[in-house]
Amino acid sequence: MKRKWWHDKVAYQIYPKSFLDSDGDGVGDLRGIISKLDYLKDLGVDIIWLSPIYQSPFVDQGYDISDYYKIAEEFGTMEEFDELLAEAKKRDMYILMDLVVNHCSDKHEWFQKALADPEGKYAQYFHFVKGRDGKEPSNYRSYFGGSAWEKVPGTDKYYLHMFAKEQPDLNWENPGLRAEIYKMMNWWLDKGLAGFRIDAIINIKKDLSFPSFEPDGPDGLASCVKMVEEVQGVGEYFEDMKKHTYGKYDAFTVAEVFNMKKDELAQFIGDDGHFSSMFDFSAHELMQGGHGWYDSRPLVFKEWRDVIFASQKETWGIGLKANIIENHDEPRGASRFLPEYAHNETGAKMLATTFLFLYGIPFIYQGQEIGMTNCRRGDIFEYDDISTKDQYREALQAGCTREQALECCYENSRDNARTPMQWSSEKNAGFTSGTPWLAVNPDYKKINVAEQERRKDSVLSYYKKLIALKKSPQFKEVLTYGKFIPEYEDSDSIFAYHRISEESGQNILVAANYGESTCEIPLECSSARVLLSNIGKEKEIENSIPEKGKISLESCQAAVLLLEK
Ligand code: GLC
Repeated sequence: MKRKWWHDKVAYQIYPKSFLDSDGDGVGDLRGIISKLDYLKDLGVDIIWLSPIYQSPFVDQGYDISDYYKIAEEFGTMEEFDELLAEAKKRDMYILMDLVVNHCSDKHEWFQKALADPEGKYAQYFHFVKGRDGKEPSNYRSYFGGSAWEKVPGTDKYYLHMFAKEQPDLNWENPGLRAEIYKMMNWWLDKGLAGFRIDAIINIKKDLSFPSFEPDGPDGLASCVKMVEEVQGVGEYFEDMKKHTYGKYDAFTVAEVFNMKKDELAQFIGDDGHFSSMFDFSAHELMQGGHGWYDSRPLVFKEWRDVIFASQKETWGIGLKANIIENHDEPRGASRFLPEYAHNETGAKMLATTFLFLYGIPFIYQGQEIGMTNCRRGDIFEYDDISTKDQYREALQAGCTREQALECCYENSRDNARTPMQWSSEKNAGFTSGTPWLAVNPDYKKINVAEQERRKDSVLSYYKKLIALKKSPQFKEVLTYGKFIPEYEDSDSIFAYHRISEESGQNILVAANYGESTCEIPLECSSARVLLSNIGKEKEIENSIPEKGKISLESCQAAVLLLEK
């Protein structure tokens, strides 16, 4: 595997709208981000991914772009963006923008021109398709519910939108459209971006015959995912994009890929793959229900651990995935992946320990480093997210009570991760002096950065230690390139793996006890050094090895050990 500059880096996702508001309008902004670069540097972050900051009507929170060359007014100006790039550079930090090119906003000039002239050049930028028998061209359900087709006013045509109707899909078959996109990407790369996080990219290839599929829900529709799964040849678009854009730069690209076809991993993230990396969603997909949030699957520790291990084994030697616990589309990991008795700082630190040393590039989502949690709402009107509203409706239609439907939202809503960052115990968690666009999680008085900065045993302080260990000159090699080998897979409560490097001759064991009672695990070595433990007691662990040949982990204890022969 060729070594690349991003392999040993730690990344952090900022959701700009909720990060820090500097001007009191209730919406986070670029100036807020600039003012926290030192905070991120101190945490140990190298790469920052900004969720979309382009001009947008914000129907899907910026994932509906109306001008790819403009910064949304809410967030600031292009000068401020340039300042952010320069300030990041000064600190040896890298900025990634979100690249959303499966679709744009219906307010984008291209779409407006297409509507004005449905037979003209710009209609070819989209999928304007004649209806069949006076109905939609096919029976696709969009990702956000309802038909994926919307009437083009004044015609017998429909346009395709795999997400909201305000997010028309772009027609990648059209070379003119592709050229426009490449020009835009190069424009940003030339500005000094380190690369892109690439949104929903698997969807860009369509089967232009738009076949219908067997309905899979009471609405008589079939998920548009079916078409994505069946269609061949998306890789050709990726290669074309790479060749004309980031392939010419030493850029880092991380793709959001669901529904990859089997055995294509090397083509996606191998040495000469389409992308530098892609997110590992295996744990998140495991919990998805067959229909929606109302039938999402409960967490079973062993299943969860095993899908992560399977993904690790599959990637080793091919490329590095981007590992996540949560992001702006997922609930908070501390609420989702931890058992009830671990809903505390010790639990959040345990989760962090098992996550950070996996093979791959860790992506921390804002607030994860202080253990932010899901946020309970008393009414659906308190949610903003378009998909939460759809899933709530679906739950009611499937027969859930209002309370049950709200419980689904509490467990799954994308707004769980989108509540404002909790900086302090001041009003609105120190996020804004105005009214926040989305209400803060009331637990901010207890969980906030300022309080955790003052405390050596906080989740935040522990994250700093984890990252420092991962990047330390002594262990960087093994923790970046060391082979991943799972351990104690028979156990129902232990999450453990080795990272072993021939290069450095080191063997690291990461072990955590997710069970409710103390657990002993045997070690095949005569001594070990505990590099980190989430509840201290390093010496106790070390002393037990020569005597008993095993270590004992309390409930929710995690440790990182350097094994000695
Ligand atoms: C991706 C984004 C999500 C967005 C969708 C449509 O999945 O992460 O937030 O809603 O694409 O752009």
